[in-house]
Amino acid sequence: MPRVLVGKRSDIQEGGFTSVTVGGRQILVAKIQGSYFATDNICTHEGAELHQGELHNKELTCPWHGAIWDLTTGRLIWFREFLEPIQSYTVVIEDDTLFVEI
Ligand code: FES
Repeated sequence: MPRVLVGKRSDIQEGGFTSVTVGGRQILVAKIQGSYFATDNICTHEGAELHQGELHNKELTCPWHGAIWDLTTGRLIWFREFLEPIQSYTVVIEDDTLFVEI
């Protein structure tokens, strides 16, 4: 499975995130309670960039219409209608470097 370089572990603070673009696909990488998680950066509702939302623990609130996503799984926690989950990815750590498997 191809790996994509994200950056150094120290680039992402606890409760924070970064985004990388790979082949036109935007991927969000977050640090939540000491672990790293990666998902698509695009909300499946109407396409907001999720890195512009607010993260509280594992819950990220979409900046446009307020859908709440679980960044550890990509599943929807709350919205007024059904939404497809956002794709999640495996994060691999080697030494101090983060990679995402896509
Ligand atoms: S674009 Fe995310 S809730 Fe509408």
